[in-house]
Amino acid sequence: MRLKAIRGTRDILPGEVERWQRVEAAAREVFALYGFRELRTPIFEDSAVFLKGTGEATDIVRKEMYRFEDLGGNDLTLRPEGTPPVIRAYLEHGLGQGLSMDRFYYMGPMFRYERPQKGRYRQFHQIGVEALGSGSPRVDAEIMEMAMRWLHELGVHQPHLMLNTVGDQQTRATYLAVLVRAQAEHLDVLCKDCHQRHATNPLRVFDCKIPECQPILDQLPTIHGSLSSRSARHFERVQQLLDLWHVAYDLDPRLVRGLDYYRETVFEITSEALGAQDSLLGGGRYDGLVAQLGGDDRPGTGFASGVERILLAMPDEAAGGVADVFVVAFDEESTEVAHDLLHRLRAAGVRTLSAAYDARNKKAQLRAAKRSGAAWQLVVGPDEIAAGRYTLRRIADGERVEIAASELPNKVAQLLSDARGTPG
Ligand code: HAM
Repeated sequence: MRLKAIRGTRDILPGEVERWQRVEAAAREVFALYGFRELRTPIFEDSAVFLKGTGEATDIVRKEMYRFEDLGGNDLTLRPEGTPPVIRAYLEHGLGQGLSMDRFYYMGPMFRYERPQKGRYRQFHQIGVEALGSGSPRVDAEIMEMAMRWLHELGVHQPHLMLNTVGDQQTRATYLAVLVRAQAEHLDVLCKDCHQRHATNPLRVFDCKIPECQPILDQLPTIHGSLSSRSARHFERVQQLLDLWHVAYDLDPRLVRGLDYYRETVFEITSEALGAQDSLLGGGRYDGLVAQLGGDDRPGTGFASGVERILLAMPDEAAGGVADVFVVAFDEESTEVAHDLLHRLRAAGVRTLSAAYDARNKKAQLRAAKRSGAAWQLVVGPDEIAAGRYTLRRIADGERVEIAASELPNKVAQLLSDARGTPG
């Protein structure tokens, strides 16, 4: 039997992994500008973290959790999202400084038992942020601006910010009553899933993708008619700030998000590059969630992105080569010299690769040099050793640079840093 990766999981291979590193590095750089610091939580938690945090009525908890009992009889779950674990850790370690200074980011695998398709996996990776301690609309706008900046920096294809509010508790109570009444009038034509959502979580009816339901859903009242004056003010302010900072967005009164903890602001960033699973990133405010997980009633706001989806929407630029110099050796004697050279080049910080092991012939080594993606090739043979000079040959265009043996490896390091435009 040939062993294979589990359906809905993927190996991230060399060649692709460099793009992941770029996404992660840009996140670290941009998020740090806004005062976010990394927090790493375990991959599994007490199931209660998600039952209480993510919410028992959500699809995630009802249908998608990798929940299991370990050998000690503990009820555990592989994290399906990062928000409840971050709050659990925040409370457990008393990380609160208040005044919106409690800002964390995280990156890593999440697990949901969903039907795999392009852009949707069972193990996927999120990069997310949580800002705890402030109820200000400024923080909502700030993290949206930050998310857009990050995606622009990565060259993501046309990120599109969509904004809505789900209001405060008073708004939701008023709106739910209005919505349930309106839905009840159309139940005979709505699909089975809509019925289920109508009974358990009427807001989620708007997530329905069935074409026959759409005309009805379009007629249902939106939350905007039920907003409390406080919620209306909060939402207005978020929009003013985004306008002020020139962050483009569209209002989508039907955007409800799949999680129950949201209050006030909710948002998603989509890209047409993605097709059906078009949500690159989603988030919103979740005042009340910290209290639900056993803390005080500290407000919070955040977002999480799907790294696989960001990569799908990013330009497919060539990954950087794995090596700067590929060293080729002619025979037994030059192999000795070549390995001494490799050693000295590496010590000088030059990324080197070679196939001069296991007595492979020169032709095979030259083919390997070409395949490797290395920028330069350096051949070590009896002539070079006798003359005390080597030729660096640029693989892409054949350009040659002669270097005296006595000038190695420093001349090579200098040449490479000149080519990159960085000081040597
Ligand atoms: P979410 O909308 O469930 O929100 O997930 C956020 C992002 O994770 C999605 O926009 C998508 O890019 C990615 N994603 C979700 N499921 C999958 C999947 N099966 N395969 C690939 N990518 C996926 C949250 O998780 C909230 N915790 C976000 C948040 C943080 N809200 C406030 N703070």
